[in-house]
Amino acid sequence: MEAVKISENIYWVGAIDWSMRSFHGYQTGRGSTYNAYLILDDKITLIDTVKHGFEPELLERIESVIDPAKIDYIVSSHVEPDHSGGIPFMAKICPNATIITSSPQGLKGLTARYGQLNYQAVKTGETLSIGKRTLQFVATPMLHWPDSMVTYCPEEKILFSNDAFGEHYATSHRFDDENDLPIILFEAQKYYANILMLYGPQAQKALQALGGLDIRMIATGHGVIWRKNIATIMDCYKKWSAGVPEERAVVVFDSMWHSTETMARCIAEAFESAGVPADYYDIKQNHMSDIITDILTAKYIAIGSPTINNQMMPTIAGFLSYLKGFQPKQKQGFAFGSYGWGGQSIGLVEDEMKACGIDIVLDKIRIANVPTAEQLQDITAKVKGLIG
Ligand code: FEO
Repeated sequence: MEAVKISENIYWVGAIDWSMRSFHGYQTGRGSTYNAYLILDDKITLIDTVKHGFEPELLERIESVIDPAKIDYIVSSHVEPDHSGGIPFMAKICPNATIITSSPQGLKGLTARYGQLNYQAVKTGETLSIGKRTLQFVATPMLHWPDSMVTYCPEEKILFSNDAFGEHYATSHRFDDENDLPIILFEAQKYYANILMLYGPQAQKALQALGGLDIRMIATGHGVIWRKNIATIMDCYKKWSAGVPEERAVVVFDSMWHSTETMARCIAEAFESAGVPADYYDIKQNHMSDIITDILTAKYIAIGSPTINNQMMPTIAGFLSYLKGFQPKQKQGFAFGSYGWGGQSIGLVEDEMKACGIDIVLDKIRIANVPTAEQLQDITAKVKGLIG
């Protein structure tokens, strides 16, 4: 395995995780990469490591360029183990290397995980001269951990962005323009939705801080390196972090004997016939992380559940718990469902939607047993009435 040159004397030396299908619950159908970068200058610098278990791949790629023992600095952008997991291993390979981390959170996090190593903590605005090049550090707290930071090299106009602008996408091709753009943009949206959605204000702040930089390449921590579509991914981040919704709907439901399912179909078709594209998700057949990806940009959310033992279905409860964590912005929605006798689930779903921060724009729709043609017409009229 070899290093991949991304600029003069700068190499990608990361690892490709073709098999990873779950990132703590976020379904990663296309695997991922753990990107690390090697800069050859007077001081040899490694930006990030890889997830524990992938150290041999990192080492082999570094060895294809230099003797790893010669590394002077290891920049740790983020304590999460998919990037820092290889630090103890690399600290043994290059024991004289200084590990650069953010102050105070990076230092605290790395020390807690890996014990006392040769750390140097830096704050926003601090720089490190490594020879012909300079590294400027910018803290990006809560994007998505308190310790997160990015590194900018002005001589190269490269932003080493770690989790920001990345996507879980295993590929043999390192650059955006060597991959299929709609696929990487979809995966970038899925990544933003499932990892960063809660932190929109912090993302906006980070975008402002990075706004003045002249960037010709974004070397991310996951997936592709952006060099051709930098404006496109930046614009996506501006839109996603602002939470400005599109005129689209997402309908999510579970069903026991098809009545709530019939209501869901009716609701999705009503949105469609009013000119609002609707995504339709049977929670049993779809993963939450895919549904969240569409919710990121949709204006309307309808969530349905029948009643089981006086509760909503556990599938919908789990989905609402996941959604609540993101506190999605500027969403309008309503709850619906069928029931046999008590029918408590629909009110419980509505309560949870309110706790998610969703503006309830239609009173909960409850139908006993099987919806009649008249009741479905009524639902259609109510949904169409939402569209201004
Ligand atoms: Fe890719 Fe937050 O670690």
